[in-house]
Amino acid sequence: MVEFWVIILSLFSGLTFSCLLIWYVDRNKQDSPHNLLHGSMGWPFAGETLGFLKPHTSNSMGSFLLEHCSRYGKVFKSHLFGYPTIVSCDFELNTYVLQNEGKLFPVDYPKVMHNILGDYSLLIVKGDIHRKLRNTTINFVSATKSESNFLHWVEVLALLRINSWDPISKQVAFYGEAKKFTINVMVKHLLNINPEEPLASKILRNFENYIKGFISLPINFPGTAYSKALKARIRLSAIIKDIITERRKCNNVKAMEGGDLLNVILSKQNLSDEEMVSLVLDLLFGGYETTAKLLSLIAYFLGGAPRALETLREEHQEIRKRKKEGEPLNWEDYNQMQFTQNVMYEAMRCGNVVKFLHRKAVETVKFKDYVIPAGWKVLPVLSSGHLDPTLFENPWEFDPFRWNNKSTSKKAAPFGGGPRLCPGADLAKVETSFFLHHLVLNYRWKIKSDDPPLAFPFVEFTRGLLLDLEPIAASTFGKHL
Ligand code: HEM
Repeated sequence: MVEFWVIILSLFSGLTFSCLLIWYVDRNKQDSPHNLLHGSMGWPFAGETLGFLKPHTSNSMGSFLLEHCSRYGKVFKSHLFGYPTIVSCDFELNTYVLQNEGKLFPVDYPKVMHNILGDYSLLIVKGDIHRKLRNTTINFVSATKSESNFLHWVEVLALLRINSWDPISKQVAFYGEAKKFTINVMVKHLLNINPEEPLASKILRNFENYIKGFISLPINFPGTAYSKALKARIRLSAIIKDIITERRKCNNVKAMEGGDLLNVILSKQNLSDEEMVSLVLDLLFGGYETTAKLLSLIAYFLGGAPRALETLREEHQEIRKRKKEGEPLNWEDYNQMQFTQNVMYEAMRCGNVVKFLHRKAVETVKFKDYVIPAGWKVLPVLSSGHLDPTLFENPWEFDPFRWNNKSTSKKAAPFGGGPRLCPGADLAKVETSFFLHHLVLNYRWKIKSDDPPLAFPFVEFTRGLLLDLEPIAASTFGKHL
């Protein structure tokens, strides 16, 4: 009798295994029309997501993309984040996809991000609403970036961080410092809240949880990152709505000169309260960690590039020489920071703040020899172009001097492209340049060899980018600010 059940059980397991095998092999064959694109759909349910997300140094392609590109070519099919997906490491295809956002390849974030960002997020919405929210953002950024009050606060907040470093311990976890600086700048310019106000720390605490949810599984169970992110969004939303109510009651008495974002959007009266809340959260999300990652990548790469660091320092010494003792930086100074621009773009090219983007094909598209099937997700991998040896000589080398050649900028897309091109790029560059000005004039530093930038896929530093600092001279500039 026992033997009978053993046979039945073996037959049943064999049958199940065969069905799964047939389904798996079939799935890898069938999904692309005409079978033009090669690739692998990976395991049932999980696909190849784990391999795709496997961390690697952010100035490298990572083993998954290297192996897949060498086996299947620069554009291949896969199964990622729960969907059949075309992964593109071809710079020309990536440019085509980004330029045709809205028409052929609308933005398409994974469900977990959509749920946390909400239905009114600028990153999610399409068509007229996208245009309305995007125009508001672009107008705010172009009015703010050169405005003296903004520049003053960026410099004050940069100095606040740099002057807080303990000269005795001589060591600083730089990524955390950069994050404190960029969140302070954003909270000040979006909501006019100063860093020492309790509301600033409350926003920061909730915002950390909000962001952590983006790379979580969508399991809404108490204690999960996803559930904490949803709750954090509700709390952040309530904080911003309270500020809106207060502003309406007090007739904007706390408005800063030039107006923070909230004042600008309140005065326009063309956004609903939900849209206003989403816009503030989107700009916090877009502008906080990205800019901190850029600053950290620069500190990391300059730590191993003495000639570039010296050239950068000379540029900032020249600017300082032309100014009176303690005179703050202004827009003209920013426009003199040409080599600083090279350093920023080279750090983004090498370190890849944003590794890939999310799109979806609404119809079947043929580009070069590639056929992208309708309904499939498309992931343009920005880092693949940045690290492509056919586009950049020695692409893994940090060499800001390569940007002296104007054609270099046509080959990199750190801020994306097309209708979704980053609207906050100018703010990020001003913040980074002003912080760097005081960093390079006040300090030399050494990096740790075991703390490189890692793509998780968002850039992270396992030890928080520990820097050994050495003050350059007894610089007193900014102590009074
Ligand atoms: C080094 C800093 C930054 C980098 C590398 C960066 C990169 C990017 C990229 C690649 C995109 C395109 C996303 C896509 O096409 O799907 C994007 C979009 C966006 N960024 Fe940035 N960003 C940075 C700083 C900022 C700042 C400072 C802000 C806000 C003040 C901001 C706000 C946004 C917003 C709102 C979008 C969505 C635009 C849309 O969907 O129309 N970013 N960013």
